[in-house]
Amino acid sequence: MNVHVENTQADAQPRDRTFPENFLWGVATASHQIEGNNFSSDYWVLEHLQCTNFAEPSGDTCDSWNRWREDIAMVKALGLNTYRFSLEWARIEPERGRFSAAAIDVYRQMCAACREAGILPVLTLHHFTSPRWLAAAGGWETPDTVDHFGRYVEKVVRELGSLAGAFCTMNEPNAQVNSWVMRGERPYPEDNAMIAEATRASGSDRFNAYFMGDSYAVRDACLAAHARAMDIIRTVAPGVPAGMTLALQDILPAPGGEALHGKIFSEARAPFYEAVRNDDFLGVQPYMRLLVGADGYAPAPQDALKNASGNDVSTDVISVAIREAYTHAGVPIIITENGIETTRDEDRITHLRGSVGHLRTCRAEGIPVLGYIHWSLMDNFEWRSGYGPKFGLYSVDRKSFTRTPKSSAAVYRQLVRESGARPVSRL
Ligand code: BGC
Repeated sequence: MNVHVENTQADAQPRDRTFPENFLWGVATASHQIEGNNFSSDYWVLEHLQCTNFAEPSGDTCDSWNRWREDIAMVKALGLNTYRFSLEWARIEPERGRFSAAAIDVYRQMCAACREAGILPVLTLHHFTSPRWLAAAGGWETPDTVDHFGRYVEKVVRELGSLAGAFCTMNEPNAQVNSWVMRGERPYPEDNAMIAEATRASGSDRFNAYFMGDSYAVRDACLAAHARAMDIIRTVAPGVPAGMTLALQDILPAPGGEALHGKIFSEARAPFYEAVRNDDFLGVQPYMRLLVGADGYAPAPQDALKNASGNDVSTDVISVAIREAYTHAGVPIIITENGIETTRDEDRITHLRGSVGHLRTCRAEGIPVLGYIHWSLMDNFEWRSGYGPKFGLYSVDRKSFTRTPKSSAAVYRQLVRESGARPVSRL
């Protein structure tokens, strides 16, 4: 294993006092994107259909189900005190009502290993994927899902609550409504054939995976599921901080786009800000700036820092998102994801330095930003786009699974070191 990250000259520099010693410095991953062979999940079904809209199946991904010790050693080698990863519901409850003690035990060992290394495990309870049985029963469009989710959450919070550093209930439940508003219809109408085939393949009359249904029904189910999870956490693991995470791109109106822009705020943000006012924190996930014209997104300005897909990823999007979220939600903020899709690691370095600079400005303004968790620890399975997009601080060889730090890993390590990060045992 090659987790070593080179020291850089600036290791000797004095500590930057804008960040408290218990500021969370971390990296994030998600189970389906790194564990591999998640065959009880709804996405696994979709990835293997004839009519699939996935560029390729997830397959072994980074084989983290077998290599998680190495992953935690990589987090440690970066000098970080936080690792955000997700629990895979489909592994934990592969059949309705049947929980896998062995899968829960692996997550328990992961949490314990983080604790031993002085790393706070931040556990996401739902990161897009669900068990295939849930999708075959109508998925997130059906109100019953909230009860199923509650049963799963109660189980894992009972089992892992004593080791968890924080819980993120749901990942980006606002992203679907955002897409719906922008497209004026279901997020991915081109999925109809894929969903029809999944429905037939699973012997059901409706197959609904996250991102593929009526976004408003899904939004309401997610808000109810979040509230249910918060109640469970407060009862079963009182004292473990919890909140949800939101996709918060910096969306600006171009001429003619004012109405659409207003609709995005009122339908894909305001209901979520309203719902989190009593939470312990809000997870903020900004990646890019998007200009909304009358008919959809307008092209990015020529001179902007761009990601591999040509989106404007100027580094001040992080401060715009922090200010907006804090103004409307009024709870402490954790950046639970932020990063850049690029094969140009020098751009990742520019992006990291700039983003941390804007974070510093927000803290100096007095906004309670409690942590920065970078997406992602390593290159991984980027959903429909497959393995093309690269977000990692480490690259991963697709056959040997060897992880190799990029130059940006050393830069992140240096930034964190300068900030005076210390191991933390609680948020
Ligand atoms: C998601 C991640 C995804 C990342 C980069 C976030 O919205 O939570 O799962 O990989 O964006 O696209």
